[in-house]
Amino acid sequence: MKNLAIFFSGNGSNMQALINASEQFKVELLICNNVEAKGIVIAENSGIELIIATNINEQDIYEKLVEKKIDYIALAGYNKLIKSFLLEKYNKKIFNIHPSLLPLYRGKDAVAQALANNARITGCTAHLINEEIDKGIILAQAMIPILNNDTIETLHKRILKQEQIIYAKTINKYVKQEEH
Ligand code: GRF
Repeated sequence: MKNLAIFFSGNGSNMQALINASEQFKVELLICNNVEAKGIVIAENSGIELIIATNINEQDIYEKLVEKKIDYIALAGYNKLIKSFLLEKYNKKIFNIHPSLLPLYRGKDAVAQALANNARITGCTAHLINEEIDKGIILAQAMIPILNNDTIETLHKRILKQEQIIYAKTINKYVKQEEH
């Protein structure tokens, strides 16, 4: 069994999905950089060790990751860029979930970008991260049709449902493959 840490900044619905669907990994550490994150309640209810730190220093976090024997990191709505220090320590072992079909609509407002572009289809992408935002190796994607009356909220809600399914599946599969 491999150990996973989850970094989050917001609602934590993907974090919850990962905790619920962990098969090949055990969620051993939760790290939050936003004291107002709604996901803190989910984290506290999970009983998993939670660190809340607004000014996260990667060197300090790394010490904690080593102490907890963390093998993989999943970003789940984490709003800070991971720097080269952690990227090197966890090469090809940091996952992210993004609300678009990458390489389309990178960055923060991916759902709004798809709507503004009058796209008919968007989706979500589970990928490995590298030093460029939303540009790492793509591991899985799910397509979601855009409806005529969609708003950012209605569309994002449907995308999130798919994210929660593919993110856990992808990490389970990736970890299993790496072990064999
Ligand atoms: C998701 O849409 C994810 O793709 C993006 O941030 C959002 C996080 O949602 N990176 P949640 O906090 O997991 O509910």
